[in-house]
Amino acid sequence: MIDTARLLAETCVRNVEWLDEVGSTNDRALQLSIDPLIETPYLVGADRQWAGRGRGSNQWWGADGSLMFSIVVGMSALNLTPADWPHFSLVTGLAIAETLSKTLPGANVGLKWPNDVWLEGRKVSGILIEQCERQSDRLIVGVGLNVNNSFATAPAELKGIATSMVDAAGGTEFSRTDVLITFLTCWSELTEQLARNKLSLVERWSRLCVLTGHPVTLTNGNQETMGVCAGIDADGALLLRTAFNLERHYAGTVRRLD
Ligand code: BTN
Repeated sequence: MIDTARLLAETCVRNVEWLDEVGSTNDRALQLSIDPLIETPYLVGADRQWAGRGRGSNQWWGADGSLMFSIVVGMSALNLTPADWPHFSLVTGLAIAETLSKTLPGANVGLKWPNDVWLEGRKVSGILIEQCERQSDRLIVGVGLNVNNSFATAPAELKGIATSMVDAAGGTEFSRTDVLITFLTCWSELTEQLARNKLSLVERWSRLCVLTGHPVTLTNGNQETMGVCAGIDADGALLLRTAFNLERHYAGTVRRLD
């Protein structure tokens, strides 16, 4: 069970709604975000989701023991604008990576542009950022993090690409409240640094990038680009060195070829 009183007392969130189950916490957060009077950051979480959404047309499979939550963020209250969206998404990934490094010291933690976090070479977390159409100042930051949901008995194809914190810890379970508090603390510190222009985002992100120096394909719609990843730039774009030049990409899905 999530200790919502602790979340309110120990973190930056002003409101918490934690549900037994919901279709998608992002959908619930989008609903709440329409009300101009709600105080943000507003955290919405659920123990189960039956219609969890991922990027594009992907679904998010959320098993018991994982963390699934969305934060309604008022960008101006954080001294940011919705144009900071690409940075915000990278900051959220960085905060998850820091949470993992603090909770699992010595673990191999990585970031895969734009929105995935890896643990021991496999995906442990995904981020879905959306904009509230009726309140243009507000973003929804959706996070799925595999905490106590083991993949040990999952089908081989899933086991090869996904993992959880409990798997990386050899079966030791974690307090989901503690993990969430660590995340929210890292996230609010990084967000504050971003707003004050005090965050070396490219440098900190690049240290953890699992794509830099590797051959990749980037798919965006029906366009496919092959190249070697040269990291990210200050706009949050992915840099690809192709046979012809250095290209910047702002959207797409990347697959590592080695
Ligand atoms: C991805 O990897 O494609 C992003 C996955 C994001 C999943 C989370 S789970 C909580 C929140 N609610 C949703 O419906 N999606 C996000």
